[in-house]
Amino acid sequence: MTIKLAPEKPFARGGNRLCFIHPVDESLCIKVRRPDFTLADRRRKKGFPKNLKPLSSFDDNLEEERVMSALQKQYGELVFRHVSRCYGFVDTDMGRGLVSELIRDGNGAISQTLKKVIWDEAFTEECRRAVTELCQFWETNLVPSRHLLLHNIVVQRDSEGAIQRLVVIDGLGSAGLLPIRLLPPSIQRKKIEKKIAVMHGRIKTLLGQRHQATFPGYHGLLMHDGVTSP
Ligand SMILES: Nc1ncnc2c1ncn2[C@@H]1O[C@H](COP(=O)(O)OP(=O)(O)OP(=O)(O)O)[C@@H](O)[C@H]1O
Ligand SMILES: [Mg+2]
Repeated sequence: MTIKLAPEKPFARGGNRLCFIHPVDESLCIKVRRPDFTLADRRRKKGFPKNLKPLSSFDDNLEEERVMSALQKQYGELVFRHVSRCYGFVDTDMGRGLVSELIRDGNGAISQTLKKVIWDEAFTEECRRAVTELCQFWETNLVPSRHLLLHNIVVQRDSEGAIQRLVVIDGLGSAGLLPIRLLPPSIQRKKIEKKIAVMHGRIKTLLGQRHQATFPGYHGLLMHDGVTSP
């Protein structure tokens, strides 16, 4: 059965994908390729020699599904403390979609990104603790990820509004050609420490932008909260 997404309003738009609430299960989301930025557009933008790679190598959904299966095999349940679950592909009227766990707060609203939370509230003690917990988890378990971008991490709150946990919803897997887990643990640790340092740099930069009138960029803002009608 083809799921109809085109008549729905996405709740978010990343650089590559549109995210919709699953029309038959609101605890799930479906991510599809942005129709205004196709795989061919993405490949063209890369330039030589990366544009020689097959189209499928530019597909985030394929990559995310592959990485999530590998993470589940390697870590089991543990990894889902800080990573959203992935449930494979469905056919939609906007192409093949990847289904994942939709992270919502205790009041039902779709969880906001770390970028939005820091923009709104600065780096509160509570948020700092949640970031430290995520970083410790990454270091202890040597979770393979690309850079930890503030719009790829969401802040899940309980029904009282207290931060429960941070969840990484995008950007997992190894950036290089070699899967990071094949490297000696000391090098894996160094790479992860570097990513965490870069993430703290990004937090600092964002804090420095808070005097500006508008939110920097569109990455990390929701288009609707999944509760009030879009
Ligand atoms: N599982 C999820 N639960 C809650 N919100 C999510 C989830 N997945 C995505 N989002 C929201 O949708 C936005 C875009 O999603 P995502 O990062 O997967 O798209 P993308 O196009 O791959 O991003 P990028 O620009 O990093 O390539 C996120 O910034 C986040 O706000
Ligand atoms: Mg993203």
